[in-house]
Amino acid sequence: MRIGLSFDLKDALPHPIGEPEDALEEYDSAETVQIIEDTISAEGHRVIRLGGGQEFLNNILHEKVDCVFNIAEGRGSYRSRESQVPAVLEMLDISYSGSDPQCLAVCLDKPLTKQLVAAAGIKIPQSLTVADTKELATVNWPDFPFPAIIKPAFEGSSKGVRLTSLVEDARQVQESVINLLKIYNQPVMVEEFIDGDEVTVGMVGNTPPQVLGMMRIVPKTVNRHFVYSLEVKRDYKRLVEYECPAKLAESTLKAISDASRKSFEVLGCRDFARVDFRIDASGVPYFLEINPLPGLGTYSDLVIMALKVGWTHHGLISAVLNAALKRYPQWQKT
Ligand SMILES: Nc1ncnc2c1ncn2[C@@H]1O[C@H](COP(=O)(O)OP(=O)(O)OP(=O)(O)O)[C@@H](O)[C@H]1O
Ligand SMILES: [Mg+2]
Repeated sequence: MRIGLSFDLKDALPHPIGEPEDALEEYDSAETVQIIEDTISAEGHRVIRLGGGQEFLNNILHEKVDCVFNIAEGRGSYRSRESQVPAVLEMLDISYSGSDPQCLAVCLDKPLTKQLVAAAGIKIPQSLTVADTKELATVNWPDFPFPAIIKPAFEGSSKGVRLTSLVEDARQVQESVINLLKIYNQPVMVEEFIDGDEVTVGMVGNTPPQVLGMMRIVPKTVNRHFVYSLEVKRDYKRLVEYECPAKLAESTLKAISDASRKSFEVLGCRDFARVDFRIDASGVPYFLEINPLPGLGTYSDLVIMALKVGWTHHGLISAVLNAALKRYPQWQKT
């Protein structure tokens, strides 16, 4: 088959003027694109690099491809940016890997995603979302459980989640929210801080999706309120240990895997995803967010997890590709 590869390269884009320091954090490295290309080639397909943005549009109109392996994050800071490439592919009736535009758009909107998973019976932290300073002034903080964490409502890749995102009281929260509203130019979530184990779950496949692994993220130094922030992710080798399989009670692991499967299905994810939870003192998992387009680079949580459960990096990418091809009757292997 001729398989197109859509991606946004971090190094190929100039830093957008006026945008925060982490504006390009979600984009991929040349190494990640190369590993995906090598894997798809090794499966016997011809790879056509399509890139992202305008370049992708030009290429997809001129290159003949049977299917696209999509890791493009989309352009701009729009909350539906991850849907851009899949929406074009649906317009042209071209098969592609991963979730559809609706799922990708919903999941980048953390408050909306949380409403949907909560309606399916999954526990979520108490939270509120403020659109602007006027709305902020109307919040009755004495009713809110502190400490709390603040984060932009429509981001991923830890954009806007820093060590300073944890706030202890009403005075701190106001200051930090005003700051974040200014920097990220979008609503800000204030969320009850769930002070327990952090577990991220890898999911691969469809009907039903399989739990690839449940990985506990353990800070190397004792930390009063651990936040797996951008600073920690950028320096993960020094600051955290990854424990996979997570050494947690059987009942907790079952609750986490049930909640992962349910959220994957309720949100309409396809082929792969990564779900983040915090576990409270009684072993109840609280859903933080789901990534329907998780990173596939060497240093991403999903790949680290895959290696820890005995998969190879190439095996993970092949599993995503084959899960996608299996959804299209015309590409079923005979
Ligand atoms: N309610 C919460 N309680 C405790 N910790 C939280 C909470 N919300 C966020 N965190 C911490 O902040 C981290 C980043 O938050 P979140 O997963 O929402 O951001 P993200 O940018 O979408 O992450 P990713 O890099 O996985 O895409 C979490 O992994 C967790 O450590
Ligand atoms: Mg996360």
